[in-house]
Amino acid sequence: MVWRCRAPRTHNGSEVMYVKSYTVQPATTLQGEISVPGDKSISHRSIMLGSIARGETTVRGFLRGEDNISTLDAFRAMGVGVEDDGETLRIKGAGLHGLSEPADILDCGNSGTSMRLITGLLSGQRFFSVLTGDQYLRKRPMGRVIEPLGRMGATIFGRSGGDKAPLAIVGRELTGITHTSKVASAQVKSALMLAGLYADGTTTVTEPHLSRDHSERMFRYFGADVETSNTTVSVRGGRELTGRDIVVPGDISSAAFFIVAALIVPGAELLIRGVGVNPTRTGVIDILVAMGGSIELLDRREVSGEPVADLLVRASRLKGIEIGGEVVPRAIDEFPVISVAAALAEGKTVLRDARELRVKETDRIAAMAANLRRSGVQVVETEDGMEITGTEKLQGCMAESFGDHRIAMSMLIAGLAAAGNVTVDDIDCIATSFPTFIELLEKVAGR
Ligand code: S3P
Repeated sequence: MVWRCRAPRTHNGSEVMYVKSYTVQPATTLQGEISVPGDKSISHRSIMLGSIARGETTVRGFLRGEDNISTLDAFRAMGVGVEDDGETLRIKGAGLHGLSEPADILDCGNSGTSMRLITGLLSGQRFFSVLTGDQYLRKRPMGRVIEPLGRMGATIFGRSGGDKAPLAIVGRELTGITHTSKVASAQVKSALMLAGLYADGTTTVTEPHLSRDHSERMFRYFGADVETSNTTVSVRGGRELTGRDIVVPGDISSAAFFIVAALIVPGAELLIRGVGVNPTRTGVIDILVAMGGSIELLDRREVSGEPVADLLVRASRLKGIEIGGEVVPRAIDEFPVISVAAALAEGKTVLRDARELRVKETDRIAAMAANLRRSGVQVVETEDGMEITGTEKLQGCMAESFGDHRIAMSMLIAGLAAAGNVTVDDIDCIATSFPTFIELLEKVAGR
């Protein structure tokens, strides 16, 4: 494996960016026992709820990725005291109405979860705030949260007719609404739930399929007034939350890269300890098992209201399948790496109902189609998915991250099972969700 640092290049006329690339050589084996860093979604929510609860919240296993640090910095900028001894975060909860007006713009970096959820929470504050993000986040749609928050009474301004960041938020007295979301989105649902804590009456959100339910679980754990039924959640406003102790499980979205690695490298066997297996997140396991993957869930347990297990994964002969419907939101972040598994499966894999992939950190359908074609795979892009015809062996290639952490990691995993080296350009983005990824990749590949 080789680190290559390119010459600095000018970006946006003024900033200078260092573009790091990484080359992965084919793996001869993949063995061992690993654990992956804490769940990104749960880490975000632990800061948010801990900050507005009464009393202290402790968080162990917090993901120290750039996205979560953006959330942490935002709450510190609103006056929340957070002590960090390197292992446990201690959040001094400010209470429901205890946040203070930030003195400057809050920068969410690359994190859509930070921006959408914090927008919901700021809508109910008695102060003015502005949120921005990096070049990728400023292109992502925010109208999906701004429109319903507006109906609750919030005043939010944004670029592109109110759809794009930077966003300026004037906090108001809010009133509960009933919202039917067109997309299954935990970010939309959670933004409205957070605003709902401040609203007069009840805020109800219904989604077409159930998206990840970490907010529902953590709201309950902190004592919020929440009810759920099928794909509907209701939050009654006004109730104070109580600080709690949280242990964050390993992120199944990070584990997914190593699950696929262990399935596609001949002779591989990997034990991944302490992975969150909330049923709203295990679509990746269901899909890979349906493709013929050997994945066993061992020692199932519950930690801070979330199910956890150890995953034993063995190299398997995979076959193409059709994917669509309710499993899609349960695996939404894993399709880049699932597409790598599909590229090495026998026959065709057809993915449908995944239009949301086009508005993630990058257009993940276009990005993976471009990268897999470079490694010799036949891919047909459709509006809401793709068709991938599996091949015996991937070719070595130069792949692009498109500034998206999950695209970068997926192509590095592809490199483990390729005939030649795979180089991924611009891998700094990996630090948004999985800063120790390369280290772990080298460990399991025995390098
Ligand atoms: C997240 C929800 C999902 C997911 C994202 C994290 C969350 O986004 O893709 O990585 O923590 O709520 P959408 O709500 O846009 O589907």
